[in-house]
Amino acid sequence: MNHSGTTPTATATNIDGVALSAQLRQDVTRRTLALKARGITPGLAVLLVGDNPASQVYVRNKVKACADSGLHSVLERYDADMTEAALLARIDALNRDPCIHGILVQLPVPAHIDANKVIEAISPAKDVDGFHIASAGALMVGQPGFWPCTPYGCMKMLESIGYELRGKHAVVIGRSNIVGKPMALMLLQNNATVTLCHSATSNLKAMTLQADVIVAAVGKRNVLTADMVKPGAVVIDVGMNRDPQGKLCGDVDYAGVREVASYITPVPGGVGPMTITMLLVNTLESAERSA
Ligand code: GUN
Repeated sequence: MNHSGTTPTATATNIDGVALSAQLRQDVTRRTLALKARGITPGLAVLLVGDNPASQVYVRNKVKACADSGLHSVLERYDADMTEAALLARIDALNRDPCIHGILVQLPVPAHIDANKVIEAISPAKDVDGFHIASAGALMVGQPGFWPCTPYGCMKMLESIGYELRGKHAVVIGRSNIVGKPMALMLLQNNATVTLCHSATSNLKAMTLQADVIVAAVGKRNVLTADMVKPGAVVIDVGMNRDPQGKLCGDVDYAGVREVASYITPVPGGVGPMTITMLLVNTLESAERSA
């Protein structure tokens, strides 16, 4: 209580994904130079089938990020009517290409192509997205392998504030294969007690109110509001949505939750930049392993 008889509320500290990315990318650049001195340039192949506008932006950003950090990258663009067999043949060739250390097929692929078949065709040694069953299995049993970039980036954000997960209760909202499920496993591996909530969870608020750490990865605005957050909790917002005014926003009611949380990731400028950064890290590590 302060002198006016009210409980003072401290506004949460932002975890700045732009600044953390810049710092991590500096390290990627330094290690890339060291590898180049030994005659190896880390190489990423990005495959895009069709002309999905969002995918075009994503792949352009990935290729640019590689160039900025000194990695080699190739962007292969194919017409929407490319056959599944042709795509699988191209992946097979890239699997055997010694200049390529990471292969990424931008999702979604056109409906006539089986995305699972495509993901499983990528060599696990080059699966820098971490989507292959072998990568998922390695994460599940705690063996070395590539971690999916977005939850991996969230872990780096927690690490950046020196957060000790041991003994803490982490609540993940969302059970996608790309974020929610691997996120829960990473938190578990770091000794948190983990609750994985999803669309069929009956009392989400009762779960989130117990949480020391909350990761929101649903893809819907205002999934997490201030009344659902324990004072002092750390809140990671993976969402990328638009508000009615067309402004980019996350899954978390940022204005409300920042008055309750101790740390929070903003949108934009939070988890978003971390995803591509971890892709660079995975590609570099793949190249280092090949050396
Ligand atoms: N589509 C949306 N996000 C991703 C991603 O992280 N990797 C791939 N391959 N496709 C995506």
